[in-house]
Amino acid sequence: MSELDDGKPVALEVDDVAVVLVRRGDEVHALRDECSHAAVALSEGELSRKGLECWLHGSCFDLRTGAPSAPPATEPVDVYAVTITGDDVLVDVTRAVNHPPN
Ligand code: FES
Repeated sequence: MSELDDGKPVALEVDDVAVVLVRRGDEVHALRDECSHAAVALSEGELSRKGLECWLHGSCFDLRTGAPSAPPATEPVDVYAVTITGDDVLVDVTRAVNHPPN
């Protein structure tokens, strides 16, 4: 966790899933690294007060719910569970936590 700069998105791959990690203070959030509008990498965007902002058209995605704050994106991105153990950040990409289980 100490390797994550506050507010700076970091792209990584977990079990073949593209993930963007965002540290905000003592919290780390993990979202699918793909905008729900046009499938560009959200890790190339910036963090704003509204969330992670897509660099292409400006929709901001809430770090907890994955919901976009404004068009053009209308669908949420997947949000994954994060566990912090010591300095390690563990991301569970087996299911999105912002969608109800099937
Ligand atoms: S590609 Fe992200 S808002 Fe359009």
